[in-house]
Amino acid sequence: MNLVEVHFAGPDKFVLVAPGTTLLAAAGLAGVEVMTGCRRGMCGTDAAKVHCAPADALEPPGDHEQGTLARMGLGDESRLLCSARVVKGRVEVRGDALLA
Ligand code: FES
Repeated sequence: MNLVEVHFAGPDKFVLVAPGTTLLAAAGLAGVEVMTGCRRGMCGTDAAKVHCAPADALEPPGDHEQGTLARMGLGDESRLLCSARVVKGRVEVRGDALLA
């Protein structure tokens, strides 16, 4: 199994995780604290800007995540850490989607 690298730009920490791991779980493994609410893609508390290499390094957003991101007016470069699951390659979490 190929592990996926998740880099958290703010604290400059990274972790290697198995495909299917959420970015929130990766943050926990990396020792990065993330503010959360519902943990099921509904509240948007954990919306973050991300950069994927390759572009499909994350699974596409599900209905809950997509609806929440649209409601928040966030584009394709933003994901909810509790919902976004890694697939392959490298994902960089660049920080709060509303601030970054
Ligand atoms: S914690 Fe609510 S959307 Fe992720």
